[in-house]
Amino acid sequence: MKNIVILGSSGSIGLQTIDIVKRYPEHFNVVGLSVHRNTDVLEAQIGEFRPKVVVVADEESAKSLKGKDLGDVEVMAGIAGLEELAAYPGADIVLNALVGSVGLRPTIATLKAGKVLALANKESMVAGGAIVNRTREETDAVILPVDSEHNALFQCIVGESEDEIEKLILTASGGPFRGRTREELGKVTVEEALAHPRWVMGPKITIDSATLMNKGLEVIEAHWLFRIPYERIEVVVHPQSIIHSMVEYTDGSIKAHLGRTDMRIPIQYTLSYPERLPSPVPPLSFIDVAQLTFEAPDYENFPCLKFAFEAAKAGGTYPAALNAANEEAVDAFLNKRIGYLDIPRVIRGVLDCHESGNDADLGIILEVEEWARRTAGGVIESLER
Ligand SMILES: NC(=O)c1ccc[n+]([C@@H]2O[C@H](COP(=O)([O-])OP(=O)(O)OC[C@H]3O[C@@H](n4cnc5c(N)ncnc54)[C@H](OP(=O)(O)O)[C@@H]3O)[C@@H](O)[C@H]2O)c1
Repeated sequence: MKNIVILGSSGSIGLQTIDIVKRYPEHFNVVGLSVHRNTDVLEAQIGEFRPKVVVVADEESAKSLKGKDLGDVEVMAGIAGLEELAAYPGADIVLNALVGSVGLRPTIATLKAGKVLALANKESMVAGGAIVNRTREETDAVILPVDSEHNALFQCIVGESEDEIEKLILTASGGPFRGRTREELGKVTVEEALAHPRWVMGPKITIDSATLMNKGLEVIEAHWLFRIPYERIEVVVHPQSIIHSMVEYTDGSIKAHLGRTDMRIPIQYTLSYPERLPSPVPPLSFIDVAQLTFEAPDYENFPCLKFAFEAAKAGGTYPAALNAANEEAVDAFLNKRIGYLDIPRVIRGVLDCHESGNDADLGIILEVEEWARRTAGGVIESLER
């Protein structure tokens, strides 16, 4: 029996993790849960799983649980609560399904506690990859990637020598706007951007997929997770999303991970690792799939991917600035304050005036994030006018 903490249990990944836990009550036991504001979902989950500790990250929303009969569960609030839950002594695995770089401090807390971290929160790695890696090296803690591409890469690498990896090949669906011209992209609405052709996900990652920033963030995540230089990480558009990613070895062999587009497969793998449990989805039929196609990414019409490579190669705190600017731009787009094509404009505006700092210092990363969010806010305001 593995004791599990789910950070972000009310979100898309959080709810799919709950689904896996419910399928295998003899394998998994929930001991901790967190939400941001969604206390209705949290209350229902407390009733169902009787966890030991829960966190409501938003302090105001946490007050709504006061006086309620929740049994003997301990309720905490704020980022300090999240950090404490992320290091909960009774947990075997902490699945970080928070959205945004708010997940960085909990990620570090889990690794400092020497726990197994099932990581969906890619923004942790993008903003603080150097610190995350240093922490996991200090404690020998294990990170099992949940993100389907990284989970695929991890599965291709199991049993191999890391020295023999030639290249990581990340596949991208291309998003809902693949093939559109710049003029057409200027007219896309929030509703269209939220309709991803292959994956059902939370709003932020769905918009990131529509701009291809998601792939850029994943390149940076892959670099830190597998310690491979950016020159040896390639992105290939594969619209069917059946191959989740590939690893090329020095002898020219290429291993690919294939499967249905259902996040419960990688989530379950991280929870059951190193064992495998029966699939939560029907088997894949290659006859039905019929065709697997590949093409180069369109860097001109989807500049966010280009900016991510640029920030990645510039190093230092550029990725943290890129990520924070993107979070602000996506939020402004979702709230209909700016248009789709304004998202890269905001990021460009922040990257152009960023002065890089030491990415191995958490205090500096947090300062850069604050600066990038403020600067992005200024660009957003100027675009609104
Ligand atoms: N969804 C996917 O299929 C998928 C696939 C691969 C990777 N990922 C990655 O997994 C992570 C989660 O994505 P998602 O799609 O599951 O997101 P989501 O549906 O938006 O859920 C996010 C979760 O985090 C909580 N949260 C949001 N803001 C927070 C804050 N400031 N402080 C504390 N908690 C906060 C939310 O709580 P409330 O509900 O209370 O707001 C919710 O539980 C992201 O990093 C994403 O890139 C997702």
